[in-house]
Amino acid sequence: MQKILAIDDKMDNLITLSALLKNLMPECAMITALSGMEGIEKAGSELPDAILLDVKMPDMDGFETCRRLMSDERTKHIPVIMITAIKTDPESRIKGLDIGANSFLAKPIDEAELISQVKVVLRIKKAEDALREERDSLERVVEERTASLRAEISERKRAEEKLQKTLESLRKAVGTTIQVMVSAVEVRDPYTAGHQTRSADLAQAIATEMGLPQDIIDGISLAGAIHDIGKLSIPAEILSKPTKLSEIEFSLIKEHARKGFEILKDVESSWPLAEIVLQHHERVDGSGYPENLKGDDILIEARILAVADVVESMASHRPYRAGLGINTALEEIENNRGILYDSDVADACLRLFREKGFKLVY
Ligand SMILES: [Fe+2]
Repeated sequence: MQKILAIDDKMDNLITLSALLKNLMPECAMITALSGMEGIEKAGSELPDAILLDVKMPDMDGFETCRRLMSDERTKHIPVIMITAIKTDPESRIKGLDIGANSFLAKPIDEAELISQVKVVLRIKKAEDALREERDSLERVVEERTASLRAEISERKRAEEKLQKTLESLRKAVGTTIQVMVSAVEVRDPYTAGHQTRSADLAQAIATEMGLPQDIIDGISLAGAIHDIGKLSIPAEILSKPTKLSEIEFSLIKEHARKGFEILKDVESSWPLAEIVLQHHERVDGSGYPENLKGDDILIEARILAVADVVESMASHRPYRAGLGINTALEEIENNRGILYDSDVADACLRLFREKGFKLVY
């Protein structure tokens, strides 16, 4: 039921007005107030759908009452019809409209005029209320969605941070595992330990020179540090034999790539460490071992490690021969560039030594 509030300082006027409206608009409820202040209070508590407001009242007149109603968040949307005896006073009308009144009704009140004005403002109020409700519910939906989206984003962020931490701790764990393996090799075979370290350093430098992503470079570095781990399973007397190896002895040595893979294959890591070690003796023309892989079928990490391994091995002293020197090693890479060794890797390696002053550290 729609409610109408009538504010007038004269009880007689209120009684007449109420009787009139009750009679002509029985679907509406009437509320009355005998002063501007009382009207403002009732408007705030009852929230009527329209206000009939007498202009001329003692203490607080209709203009001030209207101004206060319009500045209150709760009542500013309620339409106000001002009732004035001064029919021909245009200034009052303008003043009333300026402070937010919707229309004017002249005394003595014409019944038809009163009903039509009240009906019009009630209809407008109803339509505006529906619009406001619609807008409020849309705003609520937007707010809810925004809040749930924010929650989702921060949840995802937390999950990402957790994942990042897990990844970091996993990488640390892999690093520790590798370090343990390096120490194991050092104890048994100091020669191989030095070879692995220098090969890893060179492989890392080549990968950096090629502009590869840091993640790949890190993987190469780790795999390089243990690429001959499989030699732990080969009898020491064969590894350090000062004379030429027999065919059987050499085939035993070749097993170290696969043995290394076996040792590393269960190490949980985001890098293909076991595969890099398995492939570090493959050659791009398919003449390598153990699987005669060709070209791009060999991991880029393994193609890089292969070049670093050969350069380090040839340049350095071995138990069974003196070192051949870095120039001989680089000639080997240059002569077999694109045949045994990946061209880009070979070029990067040659640039490092010949143009950028790279040196193997003993
Ligand atoms: Fe090797």
